[in-house]
Amino acid sequence: MTTLLHLDSSPRPGSVSRRISGEFAETWRKTNPEGEYVYRDLAADPVPHVDSAQIEVMHRLETEGVRDLAAAREAARTPEEKASWAVTWPLVEELLAADTILLGVPMYNFSVPSTFKAWFDRVLIAPLILDPASGEGPLRGKKVVVASARGGAYGPGTPRHDCDHQEPYLKAALGMVGLASELTFLHAELTKSAHVPRLAHLKDVAAASYRTALDGARAHGGV
Ligand SMILES: Cc1cc2nc3c(=O)[nH]c(=O)nc-3n(C[C@H](O)[C@H](O)[C@H](O)COP(=O)(O)O)c2cc1C
Repeated sequence: MTTLLHLDSSPRPGSVSRRISGEFAETWRKTNPEGEYVYRDLAADPVPHVDSAQIEVMHRLETEGVRDLAAAREAARTPEEKASWAVTWPLVEELLAADTILLGVPMYNFSVPSTFKAWFDRVLIAPLILDPASGEGPLRGKKVVVASARGGAYGPGTPRHDCDHQEPYLKAALGMVGLASELTFLHAELTKSAHVPRLAHLKDVAAASYRTALDGARAHGGV
Protein backbone atom coordinates (compact mmCIF):
# COMPACT_ATOMS: atom_id res chain seq x y z
CA MET A 1 0.00 0.00 0.00
CA THR A 2 1.22 3.47 -0.85
CA THR A 3 1.06 6.34 1.65
CA LEU A 4 0.76 10.10 1.22
CA LEU A 5 1.84 12.37 4.09
CA HIS A 6 0.28 15.81 3.56
CA LEU A 7 1.35 18.79 5.69
CA ASP A 8 0.04 22.35 5.52
CA SER A 9 1.57 25.32 7.31
CA SER A 10 -0.46 28.37 6.25
CA PRO A 11 -2.88 29.56 8.95
CA ARG A 12 -5.16 31.24 6.37
CA PRO A 13 -8.52 29.65 5.48
CA GLY A 14 -8.21 31.14 1.95
CA SER A 15 -4.60 30.00 1.67
CA VAL A 16 -3.23 29.52 -1.83
CA SER A 17 -0.62 26.94 -0.75
CA ARG A 18 -3.44 24.95 0.88
CA ARG A 19 -5.48 25.05 -2.33
CA ILE A 20 -2.53 23.73 -4.33
CA SER A 21 -1.65 21.02 -1.82
CA GLY A 22 -5.38 20.18 -1.58
CA GLU A 23 -5.57 19.75 -5.35
CA PHE A 24 -2.60 17.41 -5.29
CA ALA A 25 -4.06 15.41 -2.37
CA GLU A 26 -7.49 15.11 -3.99
CA THR A 27 -5.99 13.87 -7.25
CA TRP A 28 -3.66 11.49 -5.44
CA ARG A 29 -6.52 10.03 -3.40
CA LYS A 30 -8.60 9.43 -6.55
CA THR A 31 -5.60 7.82 -8.24
CA ASN A 32 -4.74 5.71 -5.18
CA PRO A 33 -8.12 4.72 -3.67
CA GLU A 34 -6.47 2.01 -1.59
CA GLY A 35 -3.66 4.29 -0.47
CA GLU A 36 -3.23 5.63 3.04
CA TYR A 37 -3.65 9.37 3.49
CA VAL A 38 -2.13 11.09 6.54
CA TYR A 39 -2.80 14.78 7.12
CA ARG A 40 -1.06 17.15 9.52
CA ASP A 41 -2.00 20.81 9.92
CA LEU A 42 1.07 22.55 11.37
CA ALA A 43 -0.81 25.86 11.75
CA ALA A 44 -3.82 24.47 13.64
CA ASP A 45 -1.78 21.93 15.58
CA PRO A 46 1.76 23.33 15.84
CA VAL A 47 4.72 21.14 16.71
CA PRO A 48 6.49 22.55 19.79
CA HIS A 49 9.92 24.02 19.19
CA VAL A 50 12.85 21.70 19.63
CA ASP A 51 13.95 21.84 23.29
CA SER A 52 17.11 21.13 25.29
CA ALA A 53 15.94 17.59 26.10
CA GLN A 54 15.65 16.66 22.40
CA ILE A 55 18.98 18.33 21.67
CA GLU A 56 20.60 16.17 24.39
CA VAL A 57 19.21 13.06 22.65
CA MET A 58 20.35 14.30 19.25
CA HIS A 59 23.87 15.01 20.55
CA ARG A 60 24.04 11.50 22.02
CA LEU A 61 22.95 9.96 18.71
CA GLU A 62 25.67 11.93 16.93
CA THR A 63 28.38 11.18 19.51
CA GLU A 64 27.61 7.45 19.40
CA GLY A 65 27.07 7.46 15.62
CA VAL A 66 23.69 5.78 15.99
CA ARG A 67 22.06 5.12 12.62
CA ASP A 68 19.88 2.19 13.62
CA LEU A 69 16.32 3.52 13.89
CA ALA A 70 15.20 1.00 16.51
CA ALA A 71 18.10 2.14 18.72
CA ALA A 72 17.32 5.82 18.00
CA ARG A 73 13.71 5.29 19.03
CA GLU A 74 14.90 4.13 22.47
CA ALA A 75 17.61 6.81 22.85
CA ALA A 76 15.83 9.07 25.37
CA ARG A 77 16.97 8.50 28.98
CA THR A 78 15.69 11.12 31.42
CA PRO A 79 11.96 11.85 31.96
CA GLU A 80 12.42 15.18 30.12
CA GLU A 81 14.11 13.48 27.17
CA LYS A 82 11.41 10.79 27.06
CA ALA A 83 8.66 13.44 27.05
CA SER A 84 10.33 15.38 24.25
CA TRP A 85 11.17 12.27 22.21
CA ALA A 86 7.53 11.17 22.54
CA VAL A 87 6.61 14.33 20.62
CA THR A 88 9.27 13.80 17.97
CA TRP A 89 9.26 10.09 17.28
CA PRO A 90 5.68 9.82 15.88
CA LEU A 91 6.60 12.64 13.47
CA VAL A 92 9.70 10.73 12.38
CA GLU A 93 7.60 7.57 11.91
CA GLU A 94 5.11 9.48 9.76
CA LEU A 95 7.96 10.52 7.48
CA LEU A 96 9.42 7.02 7.35
CA ALA A 97 6.03 5.47 6.51
CA ALA A 98 5.27 7.91 3.68
CA ASP A 99 5.99 7.13 0.03
CA THR A 100 5.02 10.64 -1.04
CA ILE A 101 5.46 13.75 1.12
CA LEU A 102 3.37 16.80 0.25
CA LEU A 103 4.41 20.05 1.92
CA GLY A 104 2.17 23.13 1.85
CA VAL A 105 4.68 25.92 2.52
CA PRO A 106 4.09 29.64 1.89
CA MET A 107 7.01 32.04 1.63
CA TYR A 108 7.38 34.01 4.87
CA ASN A 109 10.13 36.62 5.07
CA PHE A 110 11.88 35.05 2.08
CA SER A 111 11.89 31.66 3.78
CA VAL A 112 9.37 29.28 5.41
CA PRO A 113 6.78 29.79 8.20
CA SER A 114 8.06 29.14 11.72
CA THR A 115 5.44 26.40 12.18
CA PHE A 116 7.03 24.50 9.31
CA LYS A 117 10.55 25.18 10.61
CA ALA A 118 9.56 23.88 14.06
CA TRP A 119 8.45 20.59 12.47
CA PHE A 120 11.67 20.39 10.42
CA ASP A 121 13.85 21.05 13.51
CA ARG A 122 12.14 18.16 15.31
CA VAL A 123 12.15 15.56 12.53
CA LEU A 124 15.48 15.96 10.74
CA ILE A 125 17.42 13.84 13.24
CA ALA A 126 20.92 12.46 12.64
CA PRO A 127 19.98 8.87 11.68
CA LEU A 128 17.88 10.25 8.80
CA ILE A 129 20.82 12.19 7.34
CA LEU A 130 22.49 10.50 4.39
CA ASP A 131 25.43 8.39 5.48
CA PRO A 132 28.50 10.23 4.13
CA ALA A 133 30.23 6.89 3.45
CA SER A 134 27.47 5.15 1.49
CA GLY A 135 25.25 8.07 0.48
CA GLU A 136 22.31 6.03 1.76
CA GLY A 137 19.58 6.98 4.22
CA PRO A 138 16.16 5.70 5.26
CA LEU A 139 14.20 8.47 3.49
CA ARG A 140 16.07 8.26 0.22
CA GLY A 141 13.93 7.81 -2.88
CA LYS A 142 10.68 9.19 -1.50
CA LYS A 143 8.79 11.63 -3.67
CA VAL A 144 8.39 15.17 -2.30
CA VAL A 145 6.10 17.89 -3.63
CA VAL A 146 6.18 21.44 -2.25
CA ALA A 147 2.98 23.46 -2.74
CA SER A 148 4.11 27.04 -2.31
CA ALA A 149 2.53 30.50 -2.41
CA ARG A 150 4.46 33.76 -2.54
CA GLY A 151 3.29 37.34 -2.39
CA GLY A 152 5.90 38.42 -4.94
CA ALA A 153 7.83 36.88 -7.82
CA TYR A 154 11.22 35.22 -7.46
CA GLY A 155 11.89 33.43 -10.74
CA PRO A 156 15.17 33.78 -12.65
CA GLY A 157 15.56 37.32 -13.98
CA THR A 158 13.21 38.93 -11.44
CA PRO A 159 14.67 41.69 -9.18
CA ARG A 160 14.11 39.59 -6.04
CA HIS A 161 15.47 36.30 -7.38
CA ASP A 162 18.41 36.41 -4.95
CA CYS A 163 16.02 36.89 -2.01
CA ASP A 164 14.48 33.44 -2.50
CA HIS A 165 15.63 31.56 0.60
CA GLN A 166 12.56 29.32 0.51
CA GLU A 167 13.25 26.99 -2.43
CA PRO A 168 17.08 26.82 -1.98
CA TYR A 169 16.66 26.26 1.76
CA LEU A 170 14.13 23.47 1.28
CA LYS A 171 16.32 21.87 -1.39
CA ALA A 172 19.35 21.91 0.94
CA ALA A 173 17.53 20.65 4.02
CA LEU A 174 15.57 17.97 2.15
CA GLY A 175 18.72 16.97 0.27
CA MET A 176 20.54 16.39 3.55
CA VAL A 177 18.11 13.52 4.28
CA GLY A 178 17.93 12.18 0.74
CA LEU A 179 14.63 13.84 -0.20
CA ALA A 180 15.84 16.01 -3.07
CA SER A 181 16.14 13.47 -5.86
CA GLU A 182 12.40 13.45 -6.64
CA LEU A 183 11.55 16.95 -5.48
CA THR A 184 8.99 19.15 -7.24
CA PHE A 185 8.13 22.78 -6.44
CA LEU A 186 4.71 24.13 -7.40
CA HIS A 187 4.88 27.89 -6.85
CA ALA A 188 1.92 30.26 -7.13
CA GLU A 189 3.49 33.71 -7.24
CA LEU A 190 2.31 37.30 -6.88
CA THR A 191 -0.56 36.36 -4.57
CA LYS A 192 -0.29 39.87 -3.05
CA SER A 193 -1.67 41.32 -6.29
CA ALA A 194 -5.10 40.33 -4.90
CA HIS A 195 -4.95 42.93 -2.10
CA VAL A 196 -2.00 45.30 -2.70
CA PRO A 197 -3.12 48.16 -5.00
CA ARG A 198 0.34 48.82 -6.49
CA LEU A 199 0.49 45.16 -7.61
CA ALA A 200 -3.06 45.04 -9.02
CA HIS A 201 -1.78 45.28 -12.61
CA LEU A 202 -0.10 41.89 -12.07
CA LYS A 203 -3.31 40.00 -11.31
CA ASP A 204 -3.29 38.24 -14.68
CA VAL A 205 0.29 37.07 -14.18
CA ALA A 206 -0.66 35.85 -10.71
CA ALA A 207 -3.69 34.00 -12.08
CA ALA A 208 -1.52 32.29 -14.71
CA SER A 209 1.02 31.29 -12.06
CA TYR A 210 -1.75 29.86 -9.88
CA ARG A 211 -3.23 27.90 -12.81
CA THR A 212 0.20 26.46 -13.65
CA ALA A 213 0.67 25.39 -10.03
CA LEU A 214 -2.78 23.73 -9.96
CA ASP A 215 -2.09 21.97 -13.27
CA GLY A 216 1.20 20.74 -11.80
CA ALA A 217 -0.61 19.51 -8.69
CA ARG A 218 -3.05 17.50 -10.79
CA ALA A 219 -0.30 16.17 -13.05
CA HIS A 220 1.99 15.09 -10.19
CA GLY A 221 -0.88 13.89 -7.97
CA GLY A 222 -2.14 11.60 -10.71
CA VAL A 223 1.08 9.62 -11.04
C1 LIG B 1 4.46 36.75 7.94
C2 LIG B 1 4.43 36.86 6.44
C3 LIG B 1 5.61 37.04 5.77
C4 LIG B 1 5.59 37.13 4.38
N1 LIG B 1 6.79 37.29 3.72
C5 LIG B 1 6.78 37.31 2.36
C6 LIG B 1 8.00 37.43 1.65
O1 LIG B 1 9.09 37.52 2.20
N2 LIG B 1 7.95 37.42 0.30
C7 LIG B 1 6.77 37.31 -0.39
O2 LIG B 1 6.79 37.30 -1.61
N3 LIG B 1 5.59 37.20 0.26
C8 LIG B 1 5.58 37.18 1.62
N4 LIG B 1 4.40 37.04 2.29
C9 LIG B 1 3.16 36.86 1.51
C10 LIG B 1 2.82 35.39 1.39
O3 LIG B 1 3.87 34.64 0.84
C11 LIG B 1 1.58 35.25 0.54
O4 LIG B 1 0.50 35.96 1.12
C12 LIG B 1 1.18 33.80 0.34
O5 LIG B 1 0.06 33.74 -0.50
C13 LIG B 1 0.88 33.14 1.68
O6 LIG B 1 0.55 31.78 1.49
P1 LIG B 1 -0.94 31.27 1.69
O7 LIG B 1 -1.78 31.93 0.62
O8 LIG B 1 -0.84 29.81 1.51
O9 LIG B 1 -1.38 31.67 3.06
C14 LIG B 1 4.38 37.00 3.67
C15 LIG B 1 3.20 36.80 4.37
C16 LIG B 1 3.21 36.73 5.75
C17 LIG B 1 1.91 36.52 6.48
